Amino acid sequence: MKELTLNNGVTIPQLGLGVFQVPPEETQRIVEDALEAGYRHIDTAAGYRNEAGVGAAIAASGIPREDIFVTTKLRNGEQGMAQEAFLNSRKALGLDYVDLYLIHWPVPSQGLFTQAWKEMERLYANSQIRAIGVSNFLPQHLDTLLESAEVVPAVNQIELHPSYQQAELATKCRSLGIAVEAYSPLGQGGDLNGNAVTSIAQAHNASTAQVVLAWHLASGSIVIPKSANPERIRENLAAASLTLTDEELAAITALESGARIGSDPAVAAFTQM
Ligand SMILES: NC(=O)c1ccc[n+]([C@@H]2O[C@H](COP(=O)([O-])OP(=O)(O)OC[C@H]3O[C@@H](n4cnc5c(N)ncnc54)[C@H](OP(=O)(O)O)[C@@H]3O)[C@@H](O)[C@H]2O)c1
Repeated sequence: MKELTLNNGVTIPQLGLGVFQVPPEETQRIVEDALEAGYRHIDTAAGYRNEAGVGAAIAASGIPREDIFVTTKLRNGEQGMAQEAFLNSRKALGLDYVDLYLIHWPVPSQGLFTQAWKEMERLYANSQIRAIGVSNFLPQHLDTLLESAEVVPAVNQIELHPSYQQAELATKCRSLGIAVEAYSPLGQGGDLNGNAVTSIAQAHNASTAQVVLAWHLASGSIVIPKSANPERIRENLAAASLTLTDEELAAITALESGARIGSDPAVAAFTQM
């Protein structure tokens, strides 16, 4: 798997496994499957309640810790206690350090994300986290953060798939040296059935998911498809060896329709994540 270099020199496998909505009791088995299939990048969050399963799979795999890239995220309701929340995540994962720690949502109505970032900068300075970043940050949230930040976020993990590409935000991130990480990269399955994607898949004897993932990889984004199915887990990883033509990439880019699936980060204020 190709690795990308973040703005602090840390490298990250460009494609990883996301475990949102993977039930806690199934997480160890699914992550073990993924590690065996060759994944070396797992994306979890305190809010997914499955960090322990991710950690158990890593421990059981026998793969050296430094060969696996682990991301977890700070819950919205814990932005005022980021140090303690991080410690709880690290303990749940059973790890000495986390590779990437993200503010899960800005929750601008709380007015706490710059404070949380200061705490994350301290954890980063103390080598407990190899890179720190944000998720669901819109341009105005990045601007506010950067007014007082000492560390520029390494990553912004945002909803990004053919029908919802957030092109302006992605361009802004890249211009600031912030890597773009695409969540819900398959549109939670909804972007896999259109004519354009289906005919490109047929032309390459590939699956529609592989076509969409190959489009993400060609754009330079980090991508974290979720699957709880062993065959699809393998199928998604194999997208890394699929190369699309410029015309095919353009045909997928043309599928933008503004169809956001997730919450609007400008107003989202839920505390379960
Ligand atoms: N930061 C955030 O706020 C945020 C929000 C959402 C997601 N995320 C992250 O992004 C990851 C991925 O996003 P997501 O889970 O929302 O959506 P997604 O990866 O776009 O789609 C997952 C859905 O697609 C299906 N699927 C996966 N591979 C497939 C294939 N090859 N063929 C057909 N169907 C396939 C899965 O079903 P099966 O499991 O049955 O295969 C599941 O229903 C999450 O797990 C999480 O790590 C982050």
